[in-house]
Amino acid sequence: MNTILCGFMGCGKSTIGKHLAQKYNSKFIDLDDYIVEKQNMSISDIFKEFGEAKFREIETQAITEISEFDNYIVALGGGAILNPLNAEILKKSGKIFFLNISAEEVYKRLKDDTSRPLLQTDDKLGAINDLLQKRMPLYINAADYIIDVDDKKIEEISDEIKNLM
Ligand code: S3P
Repeated sequence: MNTILCGFMGCGKSTIGKHLAQKYNSKFIDLDDYIVEKQNMSISDIFKEFGEAKFREIETQAITEISEFDNYIVALGGGAILNPLNAEILKKSGKIFFLNISAEEVYKRLKDDTSRPLLQTDDKLGAINDLLQKRMPLYINAADYIIDVDDKKIEEISDEIKNLM
């Protein structure tokens, strides 16, 4: 059984996942890092060269592979559960924790970020609001547990997850 962290860009999936893995001596894998390594390309370059649809295909393939792992802490990408097939595969491979963050908090964290292709627009807060609103039902539907992360420290969030694991 894996422990799978999902949620919007900037919610802390990788940071919390690494923290949990270190603290409890678990194995950790970050889906985006796995993709970058396999494709030997940054996420931005994959979007630029091949487009989002191709990225989603690559992402589904990576999810299929990672789901074969066992006892890992897995940090997903923010769009990984958009495809119902991905959500189905992931549900079978572990417990899914949705790290729930507000649009305002995402904006605070990512306003100067240039590494997320979907947020490179003039109206970043608008883009965050739109995407988050569309995705919220999918996150909730995929989740076994929902953890609110606004205004919480890494330690606090990790402890909450650990207690539920
Ligand atoms: C995406 C989130 C990113 C990355 C890609 C697409 C999304 O991961 O997979 O840019 O659709 O939300 P993070 O959530 O780790 O930023």
